[in-house]
Amino acid sequence: MALRFEVIGRFNRARAAILTLPHFLCQTPLFMPVGTQGTIKGLANSQLEDIGCQIILGNTYHLALRPNAELIDDMGGLHNFMNWKRALLTDSGGFQMVSLLHLADITEEGVTFQSPVDGKPMLLTPEESIHIQNKIGADIIMALDDVVKTTITGPRIEEAMNRTLRWIDRCIAAHKKPDEQNLFGIVQGGLDPVLRDICVKGLVDRDLPGYAIGGLAGGEDKGSFWRVVAQCTASLPDDKPRYVMGVGYPLDIVVCSALGADMYDCVYPTRTARFGTALVPEGILKMKHKAMADDYRPIDSTCDCMVCKKYTRAYIHCLVTKDAMGSQLLSYHNLRYMIRLSKNLHMSILEGRFPQFVQEFLRLQFPKGD
Ligand code: GUN
Ligand code: ZN
Repeated sequence: MALRFEVIGRFNRARAAILTLPHFLCQTPLFMPVGTQGTIKGLANSQLEDIGCQIILGNTYHLALRPNAELIDDMGGLHNFMNWKRALLTDSGGFQMVSLLHLADITEEGVTFQSPVDGKPMLLTPEESIHIQNKIGADIIMALDDVVKTTITGPRIEEAMNRTLRWIDRCIAAHKKPDEQNLFGIVQGGLDPVLRDICVKGLVDRDLPGYAIGGLAGGEDKGSFWRVVAQCTASLPDDKPRYVMGVGYPLDIVVCSALGADMYDCVYPTRTARFGTALVPEGILKMKHKAMADDYRPIDSTCDCMVCKKYTRAYIHCLVTKDAMGSQLLSYHNLRYMIRLSKNLHMSILEGRFPQFVQEFLRLQFPKGD
């Protein structure tokens, strides 16, 4: 195992912890920005450090296609290649293929897909995914899982859960750097509590350094989503990190942290920035709206970020439709918002005022009580 997970504060099921990874010491609850191609779109590494970013997420699938795993290995791993000193996590690739490519076909052997580069059929097996992730060299690597949408029903959900369990053994056997990289297993099983329970037990038997809850945030209602998280966190080991994949919105992170989850990743803050939306304690601000044109306040007067200290809403409004700098400044602020939210969750749990923090968060987001 190449990590230490030390819970330093609790409030009911919520935890504040120190997650010590080979490249960085992270505080949980922890938000991980998504940098698909080895960069967070529009932000320099020094800016990510300025906003307190502790770990970023890369995708095996994208990095294997461009530049490619051999090149990254030759460059001394992704940390060296992108000159990022802090922690990295790579996702295994299966989810990206299934969500991005309609031509992906899943069999017992692995995920078959048409290369977007030359159209040739390619096969990503559990062994190949781990082999590539060993070359990329992230602090945390993810098992290849069989992901199906939570909105489908029937035997396919059970098949995917059982296949995910069979694949975890192939991932463990293929993992060549357990002393340098932490392999996390991923709980699947759709919205079915019986299937989720079998998957949790199967993975916990493998005694992995951490566990992810997968297959969520794919169109199911929030009640179903939160129920699955609550069930999984209740039966995953207390002394290992729990990562809810592809989540989320600020509200989801607050709720999942209350349910005992520790780690999150989502493209939402940076993607919504590129569409001109700023995250603020009251919810969202649409910077393209004409009311912003002569609004000389900062995006968020309670935010400590460089953008909120230096620029007005009117200036961002002016840039946002005209220049890449508009979405870059908004991405910077939005990521700072998410990182500050995680930090506030950590501190409020540690200082025994988690309920007050959640209450204030909800009061601002839902002022009419709805
Ligand atoms: N990203 C969001 N959800 C998932 C999931 O279920 N599996 C993987 N591998 N990545 C994800
Ligand atoms: Zn800001």
